[in-house]
Amino acid sequence: MKIQYFLGTALAVLFLAACNSEPSVQHQMENYQIIPLPQNIAPGIGYFELNAATKIDFDEAIPELGLSADYLSAWLESKGLGINAAEAGKQFITLRIKEDLAAAAYILTITQKGILLQGGSPEGVFYGMQSLLQLIQQQYATAFPIDLPCVHIEDEPAFAYRGMHLDVGRHFFPVDFIKKYIDLLARYKMNRFHWHLTEDQGWRIEIKQYPKLQEVAAFRKETLIGHYNDTPQKYDGTPYGGYYTQEEVKDVVKYAQERFITIIPEIEMPGHAQAALAAYPELSCGGGPIETATKWGVFDEVYCPTEATFTFLENVLTEVMDLFPSEYIHIGGDECPKTKWKESAFCQQLIKEKNLKDEHGLQSYFIRRMETFLNENGRQIIGWDEILEGGLAPNATVMSWRGEKGGIDAAKQGHDVIMSPTSHCYLDYYQFQHPDEPLAIGGYLPIEKVYSYHPIPEELTEQEAAYIKGVQGNLWTEYVATPEKAEYMAFPRGLAIAEIGWTKNTNKDFEHFIKRLEQHLKWLERENVNAANPLYHVDATVLKNDAGVLSVSFDNLSKSKNIRYTTDGAAPTAESSAYVAPIPLTASGIYTGQAFAEGKPLGRSASITYNQHLASNGVLTLGNAPSPKYNAGGPQAVINGIKGSDEKYGDKEWLGFEGDDFEATIDLQEKKDLQEVQLRFFNGPGQWIYPPKTVEIYAGESPENLALVKTQQVKAGNGKIVSPKINLQGQNTRYLKIVVPNYGLIPEGLQGGGNRAWLFIDEIVLL
Ligand code: ACM
Repeated sequence: MKIQYFLGTALAVLFLAACNSEPSVQHQMENYQIIPLPQNIAPGIGYFELNAATKIDFDEAIPELGLSADYLSAWLESKGLGINAAEAGKQFITLRIKEDLAAAAYILTITQKGILLQGGSPEGVFYGMQSLLQLIQQQYATAFPIDLPCVHIEDEPAFAYRGMHLDVGRHFFPVDFIKKYIDLLARYKMNRFHWHLTEDQGWRIEIKQYPKLQEVAAFRKETLIGHYNDTPQKYDGTPYGGYYTQEEVKDVVKYAQERFITIIPEIEMPGHAQAALAAYPELSCGGGPIETATKWGVFDEVYCPTEATFTFLENVLTEVMDLFPSEYIHIGGDECPKTKWKESAFCQQLIKEKNLKDEHGLQSYFIRRMETFLNENGRQIIGWDEILEGGLAPNATVMSWRGEKGGIDAAKQGHDVIMSPTSHCYLDYYQFQHPDEPLAIGGYLPIEKVYSYHPIPEELTEQEAAYIKGVQGNLWTEYVATPEKAEYMAFPRGLAIAEIGWTKNTNKDFEHFIKRLEQHLKWLERENVNAANPLYHVDATVLKNDAGVLSVSFDNLSKSKNIRYTTDGAAPTAESSAYVAPIPLTASGIYTGQAFAEGKPLGRSASITYNQHLASNGVLTLGNAPSPKYNAGGPQAVINGIKGSDEKYGDKEWLGFEGDDFEATIDLQEKKDLQEVQLRFFNGPGQWIYPPKTVEIYAGESPENLALVKTQQVKAGNGKIVSPKINLQGQNTRYLKIVVPNYGLIPEGLQGGGNRAWLFIDEIVLL
């Protein structure tokens, strides 16, 4: 090993010297469009010519290095660029282990004489190979020779765990797609694939000891169409299902291993188990009959913590462990309603017998038992952050999804953490605001927000921060039925996840990322990946200055394209006014911006419909703060004369309050005669969003001295928007206060039952 190390260093010195002795072009950083951004790039001089006679040389004593060699050869071959080893050329791509590097680190040196790729381990070499491949694809090569710009790159990952998840329960994805997904992860140096294999709507892994999992649990009789919140809910009437055979699973595991990706299988328990319970209803508390779920959500039917259930799950996990070498097995643990456990005499007796506090204690008992079993078999568990409730199992790793709190608590308790908060990592959320966007679960998560995420919460000390092992992007597939749509949702936001996980936070730079992304989107298109293109879509932002004056700004991520706009609702053309600065909103109208290149529209336009009203230039002060997750436009957005989407509550107009009341005091700047106030609330019980039951209006001459003018009941119908109108009968006032008490606790038996409801408001219209 020592010999290779010296050999590697000697080669590096030799190659650099060779490069410098033949000076030609001094390269700039643009020539190295690598994602994730390497820690250190030193541009070189001149080019290395990659051609059919280039030979890949690696130490045969380390067969794993062959994986990188094979990966490069196969990739080139797939482009019709076969390297012909038999020609035994003089130019080498040399793969070496350099023992003083960290295992995942690599050094890639491209000189005019050759390429030297050194890694701390075969894994590090593989990552360096991905950088090399990205440099090759940047040349858009279709024929040899390919000129690669000389460079010296020193690189290593910021986090050990860099993952992407895929839910194959809600929709089933073929093995070919799983491999394509794994390939994309590998290309962006991600090293964990979290394969979410079991759900209420389908069980997707063959378990030989339990054939009904294949015959019953893998199928459902039909599927919800449209959105869960649509009323009435509609179904397609078509049976749906499928599962991976154990042979297929082994093949996929091997495929991932060859790309240094560990597959973490998830077998959900005790909740999200309705499909398994449809097959084996005796494992439920009530005994069934139970059907595989046909719509989305959280279901009351969960495993009953009987010995029969534990035996079943241990047998299932034994087969799972045989298939997956991963040290970590994900056991779910999220969203387990306790309804059936509360009703069950058996569960209540067990709580007493085991001296548990309540049903949360019972969930903790469940998870601990499964952890003990897996630990005895040399494995560790990962669970969603609900596994903190009722006490964390001793060795568990927590996957923090309902925000960062679970991760923070776990790290403070000395447990490993993977960060995957909905706010930044849920790739099933909308990525664009445009009304034509294909149906998604809800929320709004543009790529810039994903990119802004740093997995280490500020609350943690350095010692606690060491428990944060990394970050993961999640792709739930309730509204993702095809590989094409999965690609559209996962990429390029997944590339932002890759960079968060790999690149040091201090080196991250969104504008630079966007420039590199422009190259990568072209490459992804050539590779038939249906990635979304966020670069040219125009985004409209409404601004309000200190004097209450509103304006609209248009922007797009790629600063290189010019934007034209109209104010009359017409589609902008290349001849429309050029956008240079925010446009004052002095009159009601439809303001539309569109990017153009070479006279042609590029990406989507953005429109705002401005309806001036008596509060639109007012100044608003809030009582309770909105949730940081649903506050994109800031508090002033609720009086800015612009309504939010009628379909989606994640845009810049909606404000979301998690369990809190809404209280706003509006300073109209002068006394005005008020006839009516109209309010707009979102109604989305499937997402725990409820309109209020009443609203109260106060008025007066100072914010400290306001009197109740009106209390009005609010009636929710079936629609997504609830818009009460409150008659103010010519009230003359400068200050108006609007108090909207939260709906309160969601009734048991409904989605989110027992939790406080969310309250969403997007506009207060004052006439
Ligand atoms: C989750 O999104 N239920 C983990």
